Amino acid sequence: MEIKELSVNGQRLRESMERMAKIGATPGGGVHRLALSDEDREGRDLFVRWLEDIELDVTIDEMGNIFGRRQGRNDTLPPVMSGSHMDSQPSGGRFDGILGVMGTLEALRTLHENRVVTERPIVIADWTNEEGSRFAPAMVGSGVWAGALKRDWAYDRTDIHGNRFEAELVRIGYKGQAKCEKRPVHCYYEYHIEQGPILEREGKGIGAPKGIVCLHWYDVYLKGEANQVGPTPMEGRHDALCAAAEMILKVNKLPERVGGNLVATVGEIQNYPNSRNIIPDKVHFTVDIRSWDDDHALKAWELLREDFEEIAARRGCPITIEETWRVQHSPFDAKLVQRILDIADHLGYPNLHMVSGAGHDASYMNQVCPTAMIFVPSIGGRSHVEVENTRWEDCEAGANTLLHAVMQSAEEH
Ligand code: GLV
Ligand code: MN
Ligand code: MN
Repeated sequence: MEIKELSVNGQRLRESMERMAKIGATPGGGVHRLALSDEDREGRDLFVRWLEDIELDVTIDEMGNIFGRRQGRNDTLPPVMSGSHMDSQPSGGRFDGILGVMGTLEALRTLHENRVVTERPIVIADWTNEEGSRFAPAMVGSGVWAGALKRDWAYDRTDIHGNRFEAELVRIGYKGQAKCEKRPVHCYYEYHIEQGPILEREGKGIGAPKGIVCLHWYDVYLKGEANQVGPTPMEGRHDALCAAAEMILKVNKLPERVGGNLVATVGEIQNYPNSRNIIPDKVHFTVDIRSWDDDHALKAWELLREDFEEIAARRGCPITIEETWRVQHSPFDAKLVQRILDIADHLGYPNLHMVSGAGHDASYMNQVCPTAMIFVPSIGGRSHVEVENTRWEDCEAGANTLLHAVMQSAEEH
C-alpha cells in the first residue's frame, strides 16, 4: 500500500471511543471519569492493554502519565509525540481528551497493521489530570513533565474531601517508577474536539489553532459571621455568601468592562454551613480568566481584586485570595500549524485557522518542543457537558489528519 493512501479505520476508532465511554458512563449520555478515580483506573488499565496489543513499549511515570513508544528506524532520534488526556469533567462528555488519545492509538494501530516503519520513534501519551476539576490546577501531568510545575507541589494538591493527589495516584496503582521530566521530543501533536461553535458555524471539518489563550485561576475565601436567620436583623450582618454574590457579578461584567478578547467565569462555589436558616460564614469560589493577551488578563485581574477588597471591607467579610495557577498564552509552531492545514487540504477536508479558548496539555508541551493541534467540530458548540458530541465522520477525518502529520514529522531527519 502506498503510504500516501494510508488511512485510519474509522469504525475501529468509533468502537474504541464507545468502549471507553462505558467507563464512568452517566445516565445523560456523558462520562464521569475524574482524575485518579476508580473510573480513571479502569480506563487506564484498558488503555495499557491496548498499547501492549500493538507491541508498544509502555512506561508509567511518577505522575501517572502513561507513554507507549513505537520504535523508529533510527531509534536514537527524539520521538514524535502525540496524545491528550483520559480524565473527564464531572458529568462531562464522551469526546473531550479521550478522542486525542484514541485518535493517536488508531493512527498507531494503522501503522502497526500496515507494518509501516518510520525514521523516528513515535510516542503516544495519556497525561494525568488535565481537567483540574477534582485536583486544581489543570494539566498537572504535562506541567510537571515540562518542568513548569513542581512534582511535590502537585502531589500535595487535595480534592474537596481532603484526599491527596499522591495518595490517590498510589491507590489506583499508577504512581510509576519513571522520573517525570522532559526528554528531547521532535514535536508534539494533540488532536481534540473544538469545544466551541466556530468550526460548525463556518462549515469546516478541521481546525488548526494558531495557539491557546492564557489561563489564570484564582481561589477566593471569604469569612462572615454565622447566625440564626430569623432573629438576626438585616443591619449589621456579615453574610459571606452575599459578599461572594456581589463579587461573582463583578467577574461576569469584567469582559465588558475591560473590552478586548477576554472571558471570565466563576464555576465553583462552596458555601458553609450551607443551611437555609443559618447566615453563611464561609465561602470559597473560583475565578477563571482567559485571553490571548497575558497582560490584558493580568490588568483585568487587578481591577477585579480591587473590587473584591472593597466589597469584602464594606460587608465586614475578611477575604483571602490565592493566585492558584497561571499559564501564559501559547503560540504554536507556525510550520506545524501550516502542515495541519496543508494535510487537511490534501485529504479534502475544509479547514480553518483559529484560536483555542480551551486549555490543553499542548500549552505545556509548547514550552518544550514545536507543537500544534488538530480540532474537529463540537455539535452545537457544547462541551464539558453530557450532550457533548462530534460526528463520527469528523472524528475519522481528524484522526487521518493526525496520522499524516505524525508520519510526516516522523520521517524528518
Ligand atoms: C480544560 O478543559 C479547560 O478548562 O479549558
Ligand atoms: Mn480536553
Ligand atoms: Mn476539558
